[in-house]
Amino acid sequence: MNNRDLKQEISDRTKHINGIIETYLPKEEGYAQTVLEAMNYSIHAGGKRVRPMLMEETYHLFGGKEDVVEPFMAAMEMIHTYSLVHDDLPAMDNDMLRRGKPTTHAAYGEAMGVLAGDALLNYAYETALLSFEKTKDVKMLSSSIPKALQLFASKAGIHGMVGGQTADVEAEKKGLSLDEEKLSYIIENKTGALIESAMMVGATLANATREQVACVQKIAQNVGFAFQIQDDILDVVGDEALLGKPIGSDERNEKPTYVVLHGLEASKEKVKTLTEEAVELLKGFDGDTSFLEEFLMYLVYREK
Ligand code: IPE
Ligand code: IPE
Ligand code: MG
Ligand code: MG
Ligand code: MG
Repeated sequence: MNNRDLKQEISDRTKHINGIIETYLPKEEGYAQTVLEAMNYSIHAGGKRVRPMLMEETYHLFGGKEDVVEPFMAAMEMIHTYSLVHDDLPAMDNDMLRRGKPTTHAAYGEAMGVLAGDALLNYAYETALLSFEKTKDVKMLSSSIPKALQLFASKAGIHGMVGGQTADVEAEKKGLSLDEEKLSYIIENKTGALIESAMMVGATLANATREQVACVQKIAQNVGFAFQIQDDILDVVGDEALLGKPIGSDERNEKPTYVVLHGLEASKEKVKTLTEEAVELLKGFDGDTSFLEEFLMYLVYREK
């Protein structure tokens, strides 16, 4: 695919994913209307939908053909969006722009920012559980969906994203004294975990073997690590209008990122080698990996 076709394909898939997410969003009504509006505001603000895209494509790679993956795709984006809403709060990164719009707390106030994040987190599970209504297949109901739910829950929690965010906050102002092991823990968890979740849930729902899921995990670890380094690069050299979020946030918060510890050039190189390794591993699978390969390489050079 040439670059223009790839961009078009990504844009078509983003629209398709937005359509799926839309069907699962709550109605803005009743006494809790404000928080419902704030939830939908944060999701509607945009976003690349990278995680649902990876999930759906990994599901298809292993032969998944049903719509049982759809509630999980929507739920994945809800968890990710909640992580961003909370990440932007004054107590955390204290940012005012997200996805090209005022952050949720900037638009609705801090209390609603906290509650909208809580609400999205919980609603993600309510949504993922709807997958049980999508199939009558006994193996799906008794094994694949429960396994996927277990993965989905653990990767978002204290042994995943929340753990990474905890160490990230505590690493502020530590400067170069932060050791490599802790930096890796932060990146692997705050960002890697949800990317792992996306791809592993896709593979699990398609009944991939244990070995295949383990290989998918390795691929996703590389993708997640590369994705966060690129995010840190863009925080330094990105274009705020294009990114839709502030640049210089990490410097302002004195975050010891990969870029701070290794410099821009080594960081760019790392994004590339991690992704190339992931693409090599992908090629080992029998199914059609062409879109995933191109999409991952596209992410290396992303500007938003
Ligand atoms: C931003 O994620 C936060 C990170 C984990 C790096 P994305 O870059 O996927 O943000 P959206 O969803 O496109 O807004
Ligand atoms: C965020 O890392 C990871 C999350 C779990 C939200 P960042 O703090 O670098 O993400 P951005 O740059 O605000 O999107
Ligand atoms: Mg942060
Ligand atoms: Mg942030
Ligand atoms: Mg960042």
